[in-house]
Amino acid sequence: MPRITIPKLRKLKGQSKIVMITAYDAPSAKLVDQAAEIALVGDSLGTTVQGRANTLSVTMEEMIYHTRLVAENTKQALVLGDMPFMSYQSSIKQAVSNAGRFLKEGQAGAVKLEGGASVIPQVKAIIGAGIPVMGHLGYTPQSVNATGVSVNRDRDALLDDAKRLEDAGVFAMVLELVPSDVAKEISEAVSMPTIGIGAGPHCDGQVLVFNDILGFDPSFTPKFLKRYLNFHDLAAKALGEFRDDVRGGAYPADEHSY
Ligand code: KIV
Repeated sequence: MPRITIPKLRKLKGQSKIVMITAYDAPSAKLVDQAAEIALVGDSLGTTVQGRANTLSVTMEEMIYHTRLVAENTKQALVLGDMPFMSYQSSIKQAVSNAGRFLKEGQAGAVKLEGGASVIPQVKAIIGAGIPVMGHLGYTPQSVNATGVSVNRDRDALLDDAKRLEDAGVFAMVLELVPSDVAKEISEAVSMPTIGIGAGPHCDGQVLVFNDILGFDPSFTPKFLKRYLNFHDLAAKALGEFRDDVRGGAYPADEHSY
């Protein structure tokens, strides 16, 4: 199957729910490619891969490196590069140039950036340069110092931002930590797909972080998260068994030896 195109993704609205999962490297990319229409190389790599407290310190170089790994290890999913903090906020020129790097150097098919009214000039300019853009409204992790982590309940502002992003030409938008009824209203009001995370069942698709679906961190238990595997405990058990085998002499056995 060829890689999914933006027009095909847009047509899924109202037909079939869109699945988006983050990926950061070859193993996650290969798995996500089998399950999702979109592989998001999220700046969540700041927390999931780098182990930091938030996403703010993630650089363009790091994003390009991981985006390229994901692009090289997927065949079908749209590879979506997440523009990191301060790669688009300070000027339109900077935004277009960095978005271009995601496509040229990272081999992404599109970029995502956070924000509403304040980033509309950047969104228009990037799309004007021929680069598809996904918006991101609600809780926007790059603004954590300004807003804190909370559900964004400002219905009117969210609806207004969604309409502005639609007018600017985004092909889809993430709604993060938005009340279900507001996400429903936005999803009905805009012509492009909405992809929810902690935004209820009415969005046109859902996104979760790869590590969270698989249970890498048992201490991360937000209400919106459904965990499909307890990878942390399974991996800890397996590694402990390896340790015991090495110490007890059960590994390597004859069948593992040349
Ligand atoms: O960086 C990320 O993983 C994201 C998703 C949570 C939407 O932006």
